[in-house]
Amino acid sequence: MAEEKPRQFVGSTEFKKGLEGAITNESKISYVDGANGKLIYCGYSIDDLTQGGQGFEETAYLLLHGRLPKSAELDAFKKDLAGRRTIPGEVKDFLKGVAKRCHPMSSLRSAISLLGCLNPNEFEVTVDNDMEIALTLTAQFPTVVGAIQRVRKDQPIIDPDPSLGHSEDFLHMMTGGKIEPRMAEVMDMALILHAEHGMNASTFSAMVTNSSLTDMYSSIVAGIGSLKGPLHGGANEATLKPFIEIGDPAKTETWFHNSKAEKRKVMGFGHRVYKAYDPRAVIFDPIAEEFSGKAGTSHLYEIAKKLEALVVADLGGKGIFPNVDYFSGVIYNAMGIDTDMFTPIFAVARIAGWSARILEYLPENRLFRPRAVYVGDLESGYVPIGQR
Ligand code: ACO
Repeated sequence: MAEEKPRQFVGSTEFKKGLEGAITNESKISYVDGANGKLIYCGYSIDDLTQGGQGFEETAYLLLHGRLPKSAELDAFKKDLAGRRTIPGEVKDFLKGVAKRCHPMSSLRSAISLLGCLNPNEFEVTVDNDMEIALTLTAQFPTVVGAIQRVRKDQPIIDPDPSLGHSEDFLHMMTGGKIEPRMAEVMDMALILHAEHGMNASTFSAMVTNSSLTDMYSSIVAGIGSLKGPLHGGANEATLKPFIEIGDPAKTETWFHNSKAEKRKVMGFGHRVYKAYDPRAVIFDPIAEEFSGKAGTSHLYEIAKKLEALVVADLGGKGIFPNVDYFSGVIYNAMGIDTDMFTPIFAVARIAGWSARILEYLPENRLFRPRAVYVGDLESGYVPIGQR
């Protein structure tokens, strides 16, 4: 029998892996009601915000300022963001050199880091300066992601057009050409739905990083790094792949049984907090049907619905339902957007939530510094290298 190792307990042995249920701070920014499948930003339901018709800018204002803007304030905010979209030539040159060689999330991560190097006020850690950076990054993320997409397609980078709304210009910078109003409207909805979501992994990463009072760019880069993982934002990319692989709705059941037999998780299902339907998936579902119908990709939507029924029948009792990533890929695909651009789109939205959380925590900042239960040896006895 193996000798029992000494365990060094820190206060309590009652911890849950992955910080499940741990409380890290107080916040007024968003509330995820996991039991009832509801999501509230600063007191307003995502259903109202997506239906309000005021675009991503209204939600970004709400998250950053904690209240809804009045009409003149929203106009000024839209104008301000539109005026900040331009990115420096150094960033464009950098993207021209790397964007074809790596994943778009890696290009985005590095481009944001470079934007920090180019800002002479990078190290001024004050609420005012961080707000300034937050606004500029919220405006520049679409430009960077648009440029990444263009370089990957061997197309010239399109500069921002301040006469267009945030989402319309984002789509324009990615795809070129005229953007249909319904497409811009749905991109606005997608950005609103992805803008904020409590203490998720990327937000927590950004906040932990910022709590050392490092610069805002480093914190946002940490958020991007976390978001790209397949258990988090990267799942939207991973979700569409099986639908394409299945190809024919009639093959869905066999695919699911094989996946189950191989004990593979079905991407786009499950959530640490939601034990009911993710309300964002509920909003996306009919839009996925509409867009796939228009694009001639209805078979992908049909596969998604068949798979949903199978997984929910099998795992719904364990609280596993479609999450935000389940239908978004079908929509982006129908818009003609490449699969590996899905997670960068998520980042274009989530910059608002990361920034809002960082700015909320900064005035009362305290370094995040948890501990682990030490389960290693305490007295191994050092042996000089020649005697091991
Ligand atoms: N498919 C099949 N089974 C699942 C799934 C899934 N997608 N998700 C969870 N389960 C099962 C696990 O196998 C586990 O079963 P067990 O108790 O029999 O071992 C149980 O449910 C609990 O799963 P955990 O992974 O421990 O749950 P956790 O809360 O740590 O994970 C997570 C949540 C990471 C989202 C998980 O559900 C998952 O990996 N889903 C797939 C990836 C995904 O869609 N991520 C996007 C999340 S939304 C977002 O970040 C934007």
